[in-house]
Amino acid sequence: MSGGALAGRHVVVSAGPTYEDIDPVRFLGNRSSGKMGFAIAAAAAARAAPVTLISGPVTLPTPDTGSGSLHRIDVRSAAQMHAAVIGALPADIYIGAAAVADYTPARVAAEKIKKSSGSDGLTLQLVRTRDILADLAVHPHRPGLLVGFAAETEEVERHARGKLAAKQLDLIAANRVGVAGSGFESDDNALVIYGSGLALSLGPASKHELAAQLLELICQRMPAATRASDSTR
Ligand code: C5P
Repeated sequence: MSGGALAGRHVVVSAGPTYEDIDPVRFLGNRSSGKMGFAIAAAAAARAAPVTLISGPVTLPTPDTGSGSLHRIDVRSAAQMHAAVIGALPADIYIGAAAVADYTPARVAAEKIKKSSGSDGLTLQLVRTRDILADLAVHPHRPGLLVGFAAETEEVERHARGKLAAKQLDLIAANRVGVAGSGFESDDNALVIYGSGLALSLGPASKHELAAQLLELICQRMPAATRASDSTR
């Protein structure tokens, strides 16, 4: 397939969940399968973009890109994902499809936490993780186009547009979770893409079909600026 506007553009995609360790045997995770991010990475590589796919713990095989170029980096925690994304710069486009933990345990217990006989409960102290997208928005090597995802259970447009503004994104792909046939573990999904002057419904369709449609939109919105890959990479 010819790449069009994406040919030669460095695309960084994050995918999957993060696992935040509590002790050597337990963690806080979430239900992201990584399917949407992997489909986006495959679609970008098929359009001749060099792709860096940064994945949390998933059971998916690395997409077969034929002649395309895709470099996969596996991480576990939100902090590791943050470091891997920053380490992948410069990039022309960042698509944050990962479900990154917002909170992580303040400390990881060195030994397995035991049930204590004296108390019915256990209190974990959690601290905020660093927001990858928000940090990219103000980074000296800010990618030319920043795309976020918003998984919402209610008031999808209001929350998605709030994140678009707060994280200074170019586009945000919102989906309602908890609806049958879409969301985290499903092969299908339905998205609404919000941007400046834009509200575009995509699907319901397979995540591969949605990835192709999202990349089509990204191509239309690509800044005409010089590519990151021409400068420092
Ligand atoms: O605010 P919320 O976590 O719902 O926003 C979701 C979007 O923000 C996703 O694109 C996700 O990848 C990104 N995110 C991030 N770093 C975090 C938390 C979320 O980049 N620490």
